[in-house]
Amino acid sequence: MSVKNVAVILAAGNGKRFGEDTPKQFLKVGGRVVLEYSMLGFQRHPLIDEFSVVAHPDYFDEVKSLAQKNNCTKLNKIIAGGRERYESSLAAIRAYESTPDINILLHDSARPVLRQRYITDVINALEKYNAVTVAVPEVDTIIKVNPDNMQMRSSLNRHEIFKVQTPQGFKLKTLIRAYEKGHKDPAFNPTDDCGVVHRYLSDELVCIVEGEYDNMKLTYKQDLDFLEKYLADFDNL
Ligand code: CTP
Ligand code: MG
Repeated sequence: MSVKNVAVILAAGNGKRFGEDTPKQFLKVGGRVVLEYSMLGFQRHPLIDEFSVVAHPDYFDEVKSLAQKNNCTKLNKIIAGGRERYESSLAAIRAYESTPDINILLHDSARPVLRQRYITDVINALEKYNAVTVAVPEVDTIIKVNPDNMQMRSSLNRHEIFKVQTPQGFKLKTLIRAYEKGHKDPAFNPTDDCGVVHRYLSDELVCIVEGEYDNMKLTYKQDLDFLEKYLADFDNL
């Protein structure tokens, strides 16, 4: 029997850097609510069996109404999120830990330009790997800076630098193990989930599948114009 593929969309952030009262994933961009694009992307993908959304309870009704409006028959759970992103990932893990043999794909709702290909590539990579992320090569030279005096500390080799995006896919069992270990670390404060696997399960390889620069995370108001351009073509992505 083939493994069940479940996607969980993280939508419990409050968008401090964006600076609006309404969290950015619940704003309208290019005719739809930002979260709606990833709900539609997972709904449409033939390999996705079900998806869930992590949100603040104040937004549960809004998630339900977006699902109804779009006939999202694959929406299974609406899960209460946490204060930090990793606490929302943990809420997703807990919601599915009774079925540890599934594949779980975690996706930032703030990345609405979700191509069908990413979902396919991540699921295919999970046949060989226990953890996978979409990522793109960095275009700029990255340097390390000493924040105390704002002087350059060192320069990194650009060819070794990739920017991590989502979706990220896992054998749920692996992710559970990684978070169990991470949680015991007093300095635990990860910003993505493959990072948790890499840091706390040193025997696991994390596979990279190729992303695109337009799979950007809506972070600041200036990102809106750029996103509108790509979202016009969303149905063909
Ligand atoms: N997220 C979440 N729960 C949190 C924090 C973030 O589900 N406690 C989600 C966000 O909704 C977003 C994704 O994780 O879709 C990536 O996070 P980010 O872009 O940092 O969003 P925010 O945390 O909302 O924004 P900011 O950091 O500017 O406050
Ligand atoms: Mg954040």
